[in-house]
Amino acid sequence: MTDRIDQIAAEARAAIEQAATTDALEQVRVQYLGRKAELPQILRGVADLPPEQRGVVGRAANLARRELEAAIAARAEALEAAELDERLRTDRVDVTLPGDPPQPVGRLHVLTQTRREIEDVFVGLGFRVLEGPEVETVHYNFDALNHAPTHPARARTDTFYAGEDVVLRTHTSPMQIRAMESQPPPLYVIIPGRVYRRDSDATHTPQFHQVEGLAVDTDITLADLKGTLLDFSRAIFGSEREVRLRPHFFPFTEPSVEVDVSCFNCARDGSPCQVCKGTGWLEILGAGMVDPNVFAHVREHGYDPEEIQGFAFGMGIERIAALKYGIPDIRTLYANDVRVLEQFG
Ligand code: DAH
Repeated sequence: MTDRIDQIAAEARAAIEQAATTDALEQVRVQYLGRKAELPQILRGVADLPPEQRGVVGRAANLARRELEAAIAARAEALEAAELDERLRTDRVDVTLPGDPPQPVGRLHVLTQTRREIEDVFVGLGFRVLEGPEVETVHYNFDALNHAPTHPARARTDTFYAGEDVVLRTHTSPMQIRAMESQPPPLYVIIPGRVYRRDSDATHTPQFHQVEGLAVDTDITLADLKGTLLDFSRAIFGSEREVRLRPHFFPFTEPSVEVDVSCFNCARDGSPCQVCKGTGWLEILGAGMVDPNVFAHVREHGYDPEEIQGFAFGMGIERIAALKYGIPDIRTLYANDVRVLEQFG
């Protein structure tokens, strides 16, 4: 009887090793350990054997069953792991493959490209990039920036009010105040972001984008402003560019200037120029030396106008992009027509 048990066990071990799938292994289990299989029947018959055989046969049969159960469990684990690997391999999707049929690759919106280009230039000059709230208080948007109580930009016909003292910011300049409140000088920051005005035509949209710049330190002069903007203009419009400053007025700078860059279009083909209307210069932004009245609002944060000076500037991203790429109507930048957008970049 024990010889027969050894024979069954050897046969079963071979069958277990050969089972190539979990299903095949289950069949082997039923064949050797199922209710009708020989080994379990031997086990069930132990009680009917002559007493002197019961112990020997019972031990051998039990041992064989436990061994086979263990062998099946080990084989099952190996097969399950292999089958999982196989499933993972065959079910894998390579998301980096081109679509079928291949889809055209998109690109960044020209305004995003332009914003990033502008940011890169100033980051290279040591400025940090900040962002700020688009819903702003009248205090930050106008009062702290030295706007007279009668300043026309405060009018409800020019500015979107969200409450008595709350506006959609009309420029990124309020972040000058917030930046100075958040850290003492020296401060070199630019602030890109959305701004809002009640305005709509080929060169104005009710929502547009600006980049504010602010540098505060000891010994900052208008020459630093001009040098910074010359670097900027050459990086964006070409290494041949010059800049000029024209006197202007902004409430929060004194002196204030408008900044022109020499026309890159005339220089190119020599014919009467549509871009600069023959003047040779293109207005790109407003700027100036930070007015002491502005510093007065943040004096307790370390900005004593007797000790520090600063320059500030603000430009429209749409305007920079329109000049650079010759876009006649900036409203097309918001119309989501890919025939327009795919021309840039
Ligand atoms: N905030 C001004 C505007 O929206 C632009 C500007 C002008 C910003 C002069 C400045 C500046 O920081 O110094 O028209």
